[in-house]
Amino acid sequence: MNAMTPAQLTDRVVEAFGSTPDPRLRELISALIRHLHAFAVETRLTPEEWLAGLQFLTATGQKCDERRQEFVLLSDVLGLSSLVDIVNAADGATESTVLGPFYVAGAPARAMGEHIGRPEDGSPTLVRGSVTDVAGQPVDKATLDVWQSDDKGFYDTQDPSQPAFNLRGVFVTGPDGRFEFRTARPSSYPIPTDGPVGDLLRATERSRWRAAHIHVIVSAPGHRAVTTHIFDADNPYLDSDAVFGVKDSLVKPFRPAGPGDPGDVSYVVDMDFSLAPETAGD
Ligand code: BEZ
Ligand code: FE
Repeated sequence: MNAMTPAQLTDRVVEAFGSTPDPRLRELISALIRHLHAFAVETRLTPEEWLAGLQFLTATGQKCDERRQEFVLLSDVLGLSSLVDIVNAADGATESTVLGPFYVAGAPARAMGEHIGRPEDGSPTLVRGSVTDVAGQPVDKATLDVWQSDDKGFYDTQDPSQPAFNLRGVFVTGPDGRFEFRTARPSSYPIPTDGPVGDLLRATERSRWRAAHIHVIVSAPGHRAVTTHIFDADNPYLDSDAVFGVKDSLVKPFRPAGPGDPGDVSYVVDMDFSLAPETAGD
């Protein structure tokens, strides 16, 4: 009797899941089995390595609680979060990028032009632009939910000296689709490395730094929401962002303010957003 081959085993396992009633779940689970098995075959995975992998995943789960999601961080540093964004991108819409762990729902509504932080958070910066649909028409009542770190790289949730919802705010456009807000120029910061993902970055000698950015979720009735960033074009980590979040279209100059700009800001950033129409399932 011949020994079972890897291909025979893989087929048998896929077949065992073959009566999964939900067709999408059946598709996902069989592709997952095939790719996992191919990985083990290609690398000739040893029992010790397999066990070390399971221990790593166990530690990743054990690091999670209601404030910390180590699995999302793992997905981020493996580029999987960014890949899912790319696979689901809508034609003509602003490119999306990772949500990250520092989003907090319920940020205060702010008036157009308002500062979302304090003078001590960093160089005052005006961010302005418009929200349009993919045909270039302004979007009325588009919501921009904005959050970011200060110029030391800390979010309010990491820094007890910042008040709650510091450097966070929600802006709603009028019929012209335009928005503007004041903020601090953000700085680069390291992703959390006190868990298994940090061990992985150290073992692989990878950078833990995120390129400086402002987070924005842009949404509007009848449109697909976009979770994205504005990256500072003058940042050394654009090419080595720890979570592969940088996309060229999201990189914008923080231009020094000049004559004709408001006198209370040091930098001006122009950023427009484009939203695709909602599709079934959104
Ligand atoms: C962030 O930008 O907030 C972030 C994104 C992914 C991992 C860690 C932090
Ligand atoms: Fe961030």
